[in-house]
Amino acid sequence: MLMFKSLSSKLIVTLFALLLLLSASFIGFALWKTPMFLQELNQRLNLELADNIVKEKNLMINTQVNHEAMQSVFMGLMLVNPVIEVYLVDTQGKLLAYSAPEGVVKRQTIDLVPVQQFLNKNQYFPVLGNDPRDLLRDKVFSAAAIYDKQSLQGYLYIVLGGQAYDSVVELLQSSYMLRIWIGAVVVSLLVALLAGFMMFRHITRRVHQLAKGMEKFKQSGFQHSIELPDRFDGWGDEIDQLGLTFHEMSERIIHQVKLLQNNDTSRREMVANVSHDLRTPLASLQGYLETLKLKADQLSDEQRRDYIDIAYKHSKRLRKLITELFELSTLENQDAPLHYESFSMSELVQDVCQKFRLEAENKGLILFTAISIQPAFVRADIGLIQRVLENVIENAIKYTPEGGEVSVSLIISKQTITTRIVDTGQGIAAEHLTHIFERFYRVEKHRNLDGTGLGLAIAQRIMQLHNSFIEVQSKVNVGTTFSLPLPHSTS
Ligand SMILES: Nc1ncnc2c1ncn2[C@@H]1O[C@H](COP(=O)(O)OP(=O)(O)OP(=O)(O)O)[C@@H](O)[C@H]1O
Ligand SMILES: [Mg+2]
Repeated sequence: MLMFKSLSSKLIVTLFALLLLLSASFIGFALWKTPMFLQELNQRLNLELADNIVKEKNLMINTQVNHEAMQSVFMGLMLVNPVIEVYLVDTQGKLLAYSAPEGVVKRQTIDLVPVQQFLNKNQYFPVLGNDPRDLLRDKVFSAAAIYDKQSLQGYLYIVLGGQAYDSVVELLQSSYMLRIWIGAVVVSLLVALLAGFMMFRHITRRVHQLAKGMEKFKQSGFQHSIELPDRFDGWGDEIDQLGLTFHEMSERIIHQVKLLQNNDTSRREMVANVSHDLRTPLASLQGYLETLKLKADQLSDEQRRDYIDIAYKHSKRLRKLITELFELSTLENQDAPLHYESFSMSELVQDVCQKFRLEAENKGLILFTAISIQPAFVRADIGLIQRVLENVIENAIKYTPEGGEVSVSLIISKQTITTRIVDTGQGIAAEHLTHIFERFYRVEKHRNLDGTGLGLAIAQRIMQLHNSFIEVQSKVNVGTTFSLPLPHSTS
């Protein structure tokens, strides 16, 4: 049973069944119709037999049977073909003379309608008429009308052969054509079967190969992709296309699995980072509050104020961390809602810079804005874009030492308005540059500064949501440039 599980064996069995059915119906039809054909042949060959005899001999004279002439006809035909039977009938179909022994003839009258049809000649052959010796079966015959001095005397009625095929074997034995025909059907059946077998093997081999590839893919734990089909030339048939699709699908699955694994790892890392980052300020906060509570009366006013300040700073940091984490997770949701509107980027940049001006001054920095008077409208979520600007400008101020410069400018091109934030700070080394947009990533030397490492992650996510990006160029001890392109507002 196992061998019938394969596609090729199922196809071959189906083909065999179909061919067998077809051959059986052909042979059945041939067996059914061949006797008719043989009868037709027999009748056509003997079309003129009765006529020739009637022309040659005067079988009836003045309604009387010419027994002498009849006798010679009986004898003559008996010698030539013993299976044919000769009858002389009158104009009503009544038998007048025949050559059979008494008792063999079972009817004395024959139906003349088929005889008339036969004499008409333009009939479909075979025409079957009564056989006086057989009440059940009609047979082919040859007949001719007998005239004496222009008056119809009766008919010479010759039942031809009279052979009925009682079995198929008998029929086959008697028909050479039928045997040849059946032989041809059987040989074609075998040839078609062999050709079908080879063709199916050829076609199903590739399907089999595909199935094997899939199985291997499954067994490799979805790790090794399915190979391309052997003969794939890029313009193959459906099976080749299926192979290509499977190949691409497997690569996609491998990619997705890797992505899921990476996501999982980064989620774990994030949870670890978050708990660490939350725990540190929380522990300090708790420590200072505890000291304040237990040793309140031993502390000087100044110490007490310092402790409260530090506790407050830690609680602020905690709050910032929690707020930013929540913000990032909301933004990371695929369908984070954006409130698009058209607004002037130059105004927004001015506003944000204004907010940071005092902080920059306090740090001994110059904060420039180089904004042209050209209108610079973009269509975006103003609240979120403000957040991006704040995060990037805040970094520029934070990571630029005293005496440095931070300049913010707008570059207006045909399609985009790019906000560029340039600082003359410490710069970011190449090995860090690729990581600064990751959550919680902070360059080591900056870890003592305030910050959570979420600012750029949030900024980048916001730009992604606007189908844009953040470009960064940096040189250590020279400075860093952040570019934030946004498309022009069309309205
Ligand atoms: N302009 C800059 N110059 C030098 N280093 C920078 C600059 N901007 C960012 N960085 C580096 O990239 C890191 C990530 O920046 P990000 O803004 O994400 O975090 P953060 O500033 O440390 O914390 P916060 O979440 O408070 O912004 C920073 O820690 C810093 O090391
Ligand atoms: Mg920052």
